[in-house]
Amino acid sequence: MKFDFQYYNPTKIYFGKSALDNLSGELANYGEKVLLVYGKNSIKKSGLYDKIIGILSGAGKKVTELSGIKSNPSYAQLLKGAELVRENNIDLILAVGGGSVIDCSKGISVSAYCEGDPWQRYWVNFEDVDNKIVPVGSVLTMAGTGSEMNGGSVITNEDKMIKNGRVFPADVYPKFSILDPEYTYTVPEYQMVSGVFDTMSHLMEQYFSGDDDNTTDYIIEGVMRSLINSARAALKDREDYEARSNIMWCATIGLNTLTGVSKEQDWEVHMIEHQIGAYTDCAHGAGLAVVSTPYYKYICRDGLDKFVRFAENVWGIDTAGMAKEDAALAGINSLTEFIKELGLPLTLRELGATEDMLPKIAESTIPGGGYKKLNAEDILEILKACY
Ligand code: NZQ
Ligand code: ZN
Repeated sequence: MKFDFQYYNPTKIYFGKSALDNLSGELANYGEKVLLVYGKNSIKKSGLYDKIIGILSGAGKKVTELSGIKSNPSYAQLLKGAELVRENNIDLILAVGGGSVIDCSKGISVSAYCEGDPWQRYWVNFEDVDNKIVPVGSVLTMAGTGSEMNGGSVITNEDKMIKNGRVFPADVYPKFSILDPEYTYTVPEYQMVSGVFDTMSHLMEQYFSGDDDNTTDYIIEGVMRSLINSARAALKDREDYEARSNIMWCATIGLNTLTGVSKEQDWEVHMIEHQIGAYTDCAHGAGLAVVSTPYYKYICRDGLDKFVRFAENVWGIDTAGMAKEDAALAGINSLTEFIKELGLPLTLRELGATEDMLPKIAESTIPGGGYKKLNAEDILEILKACY
């Protein structure tokens, strides 16, 4: 392991078919005022809302609700939640939903008592949080982002047309997260595959950078293989419990810092997708699917050995006798085939982007990269290849 590291993750996970039974025990650790945060209507349709309300009232909680959190949660919704926290003197924020609901809840948690403009301080200047943090707990209903066990909070400022992500330290992570894979059965197929690809992308962002013999890379390869196999099984049978539970756990460990330990990381595919999201409001995983193949083709010559290893260890390609470049491309082509298998888009047009957006997306993307450092011109080239 090349770099020194500390490893600590404070989120307590309850996983499995009876995971929700642990909610009342957790609620006992907090005061009586709860802000229940959720999305549009999926938890009401599935009956989860009624169960949660029953548990909250059984625990004697006073509940304030913030509903309608949209995919790609907006800064305006975050500010509304922060106001509710202050007005009602909230003791616990309970997020019930996918990454958008959990990200927004973490954003509310750090913003409610922030002096000054939270957007500028926390999502632009990336300042440390020096104010009171309201505890967050979560009940996850969609697998993909890993938000249930990390400090990430990705917020879209619709006035500024910027989607910015931020990783907060351990005291902002959910205190507990309840993961019952059966809750994901009702996720529409497009969102399911979007979540699968989001996880795949998190793993690739951490894998394709740094070239040492790092234990973390072997862990990532194993998680990728489990994810690919389980996604194929879940596409055949949406209620295959083993497949859905594997996908859920792959998503959680795919971004709970375990798969990034002692590694240089890339994250440029995410930086580009965030701005595509700001312009098109696409599903996050779908945006990542569009960017990934052109991006990896653009940078693979700068990290050839790792792309060959990806072809061999993740996709099982026999590269004996192949030139390194051909072997690397064979791995990337397998990734493209997987995107097709999932039924995700491969072009920006399919996400509703128009040609005039490309320079604006390129200019507003935070430049960076792993094997190859990109500038706005490189990003524009990649966007043209995605179009
Ligand atoms: O709003 P409702 O009605 O609940 O419907 C949601 C939403 O339309 C639906 N859904 C969720 N669970 C469901 C369900 N429908 C039926 N049954 C269920 N059980 O799915 C749709 C998408 O939900 P959303 O929470 O937006 O999806 P996801 O979990 O992919 O979250 C995406 C957001 O997370 C950010 C993304 O950028 C995006 O804003 N990310 C957060 C990260 C983090 N915290 O570390 C990292 C990621 O890279 C990502 O950037
Ligand atoms: Zn992601």
